[in-house]
Amino acid sequence: MVLLAMTLHNKRILLLISGGIAAFKALELIRLIKKSGGYVTPVMTKSAKQFVTPLSVSALSENKVYDELFNLTDEAEMGHISLSRENDLILVMPATANILAKLAHGIADDLATTLLLATDSPIMVAPAMNVRMWEASATQKNMKLLRDNDVQFIGPVKGDMACGEFGFGRLSEPEVILTVLEDFFSPVTKTLSGKHVLITAGPTYEAIDPVRFIGNLSSGKQGYALADAARRAGAKVTLITGPSNEVLPYGVKLKQVRTAQQMMSAVQQSLPADIAVFAAAVSDWKIANYSDVKIKKQQHPDKNSTDEKTLTFVENPDILKTIASLTKNRPSLVVGFAAETDDILENARAKIIRKNCDILVVNDVSPATGIMGGDYNKVSIMNKHNQQIVELPKASKAQIARNIIDYIGKINE
Ligand code: CTP
Repeated sequence: MVLLAMTLHNKRILLLISGGIAAFKALELIRLIKKSGGYVTPVMTKSAKQFVTPLSVSALSENKVYDELFNLTDEAEMGHISLSRENDLILVMPATANILAKLAHGIADDLATTLLLATDSPIMVAPAMNVRMWEASATQKNMKLLRDNDVQFIGPVKGDMACGEFGFGRLSEPEVILTVLEDFFSPVTKTLSGKHVLITAGPTYEAIDPVRFIGNLSSGKQGYALADAARRAGAKVTLITGPSNEVLPYGVKLKQVRTAQQMMSAVQQSLPADIAVFAAAVSDWKIANYSDVKIKKQQHPDKNSTDEKTLTFVENPDILKTIASLTKNRPSLVVGFAAETDDILENARAKIIRKNCDILVVNDVSPATGIMGGDYNKVSIMNKHNQQIVELPKASKAQIARNIIDYIGKINE
């Protein structure tokens, strides 16, 4: 079972889809909003229906698509006034130059624009249009007018456009829009404002030959969630990650590595940092007898037996210990993770001293817990300076990340 952060739990979002090529991305956004616990009431303009079908929108939102202003049934059931007001937020995505112009000037000539005029809910818009249309003085004036009227803009961003041009006008990615929505509904105290937080995440892979490696089961989830939580708390975040399939959190600087040695170099190059959190499951060893050609399965003359292969290992640098022991450029707070399977607290007490870190987040990764690679975590936070241990309840990795960042934020006060 996947346990999600559910940051949009019970939030009702009226999603107005206007007619642009990026309208298809509304489908992904609907999926993400629902996954985060929110409800979507979709409204489509006439031209939006040229780009994406109401059937898909309805199926994904599990809701009826509203598209007609003069629909007597809807007027009897609900009416456009109540539809405009019974939501926590109205989001126009994608927002064309046309709908922005109408919103700026109070034109209400279809259901979507009438709802925008009638609402008393906050409005956000995620524009998507050709770069010339975005840069046109009329659009820029409309944007300023809308901003003055508290309409919040998400993007547009710079990039390749469907029309083949390049520049500002591209729709922000659905993951980014979701983050803005989540930030809006769950404002976080900016306890790490102005701080540079460096985070390591994921496994490292140590090559045996050009096609084989030794790795581990770490997914990177906990480290990525920490990066997201630290960014939400106002930090400038550098995330140094081994191979992972996690989606890069919005607003985080990413450095991708494979081996422990590469992770070490990337960490050193990312200093100075105020806070360093080492959540990566770094391989303690690398292969000493690396082969730069693919090792063959040599067949033994006796067909029933094959040659034995022996791998020899040498120790990798201990990144946490190296950084925590720096005399110059040591982050003022160094946080380590302790993955233990037995004698957990005893091992952790020895580890916090051995690694010279200030805080140790201790978790039980014995196979029965399903923590390694899973969605939940159960940790205790050990503080070397006040000797206290805070036990956190079992929760999603996203929630655990928020709790750890809250804890760090309090130390930082
Ligand atoms: N760590 C590191 N570099 C390494 C090994 C570990 O930075 N080469 C960091 C991890 O990111 C984690 C902490 O050290 O924050 C502890 O990792 P863990 O695997 O629990 O400890 P080990 O040092 O490997 O100790 P042991 O396996 O003996 O328990």
